[in-house]
Amino acid sequence: MDQTTSPYVLEMREITKSFPGVLALDRVSLKVRPSTVHVLCGENGAGKSTLMKVLSGEHVVDSGEIYFNGARLENQNTKAALNMGIAMIHQELSPVMDMTIAENIFLGREPSTGGGVLNMFVDFKSIYEETQKLLDKLGLKYNPRMKMRDLSIAAQQLIEITKAISRKASLIIMDEPTSAITDKEVDMLFDQITDLKANGVAIIYITHKMNEIFQIADDITVIRDGQYVDSGPATAYTENKLISQMVGREITNIFPKMDAEIGDVVLEVRNLTRTGVFENISFQVRKGEIFGLAGLVGAGRTEVARVIFGLDPADSGEILMHGKPVKIRNTTAAIKNGIAMVSEDRKNEGLVLVRSCMENISLANLDKFAPGLFLNLKSEKELAEKMKEKLRVKVHNLQVKVGTLSGGNQQKVVIAKWLLGDLNVLILDEPTRGIDVGSKSEIHRLMSELAQQGLAIIMISSELPEILGMSDRVLVMHEGEATGEISRKDASQEAIMTLATGGKL
Ligand SMILES: Nc1ncnc2c1ncn2[C@@H]1O[C@H](COP(=O)(O)OP(=O)(O)OP(=O)(O)O)[C@@H](O)[C@H]1O
Ligand SMILES: [Mg+2]
Repeated sequence: MDQTTSPYVLEMREITKSFPGVLALDRVSLKVRPSTVHVLCGENGAGKSTLMKVLSGEHVVDSGEIYFNGARLENQNTKAALNMGIAMIHQELSPVMDMTIAENIFLGREPSTGGGVLNMFVDFKSIYEETQKLLDKLGLKYNPRMKMRDLSIAAQQLIEITKAISRKASLIIMDEPTSAITDKEVDMLFDQITDLKANGVAIIYITHKMNEIFQIADDITVIRDGQYVDSGPATAYTENKLISQMVGREITNIFPKMDAEIGDVVLEVRNLTRTGVFENISFQVRKGEIFGLAGLVGAGRTEVARVIFGLDPADSGEILMHGKPVKIRNTTAAIKNGIAMVSEDRKNEGLVLVRSCMENISLANLDKFAPGLFLNLKSEKELAEKMKEKLRVKVHNLQVKVGTLSGGNQQKVVIAKWLLGDLNVLILDEPTRGIDVGSKSEIHRLMSELAQQGLAIIMISSELPEILGMSDRVLVMHEGEATGEISRKDASQEAIMTLATGGKL
């Protein structure tokens, strides 16, 4: 075929890639038209990130061909890919934490004050100026001298996006770029994408968020279990068609909230305050209830949860369990009171990546994270297998190191660990972030079951459909304050957004 007439900026043909024991990609093809957003869809572990890492030169293919702008790419490596104009924003961000924003953005290609040997000396003044210009252009209010570690996950993600844009790439791969950013920041990103498209850049976009897919996609490709399923213009898809292609079955009830008997108050917080972070937060959560904490990222929801779980101290206010005031000075105290939390930053706080899935889910490990927590399941193996089945963790063998699982499957392992405990209160911070639609409904089903069994659940979520679909009651926060509490029957997208942005009902 005459490559110069190809209507595609990128063609990946019959790509096959295996890892020891796993055929991650089995003859997958992907064709991307210039100046379009191509959304790559598939369940956790389908092979999306692997396909993109093949393109960005991180993985060597077993077989298959890649054509970029009509030229065959061979012996791909990351540097060559970048030089050709292919940039990738990774799902698992790896910004160098001790670097400043500017250093991170210019990492590996710092402008220098001179040529030759002097190339080794970075012209710091100009990288700070350049970075400031970039940030201004994107409307991001961060100081280029800030350390990456001092930024929120959302901010780190935005900086990675800035970095790719700054490389003037002609193809940008975004692997779940919005999993940790606010709606406002998502709008900012989408504006950027529109601009990039207008300037002839093609984007490959990976997301599990249905609303984003239909908002942004020109074309869609679906893969399942490492195999190509279908591809076409976004207009040829409906949500149901897409879900059934990804999951390989119909999902009839996306939010399987079941009725649970609502009992006595289990946890109460009264006027809880952490100065400068949140103020006067009061609420009660009852047995059998799913209590939603809504708000924009940065509203202080996670911070409230951290105090309840003993990770941070409160400056004033009270926490009561079953009507009795309790002191929760550390997580051990929280766990003794039957309170557990699945954190937002699961990867750093929740997993030992070099250990097996089994060890990560298992009793021994749980005991390490949560001394004294009583488990009423028989054997570790049985328990781990059960969770693997329930949450559809895609791994051929539970002895595999957690670090080699796909992003979403790693998250399921952390959640699995906590769902097994004998608890009173379970706090879930963004429980389905990065989780595919099928597994999402499994996690929701589990939450419902746990509520039916008498657990009190606090669910922090930035996804309105999830808040509306799963919560019995919703407390909305804005800039560290509670702006309103709404019952399930009164909750609507508009009401929550009004309160979340500081308005009144
Ligand atoms: N470095 C690796 N070593 C071994 N197995 C791997 C490695 N990278 C990926 N895999 C396996 O390849 C398969 C595809 O993983 P991949 O990360 O591409 O999935 P994904 O579609 O991106 O999923 P998610 O939506 O969860 O991010 C999985 O079974 C995963 O465990
Ligand atoms: Mg992935």
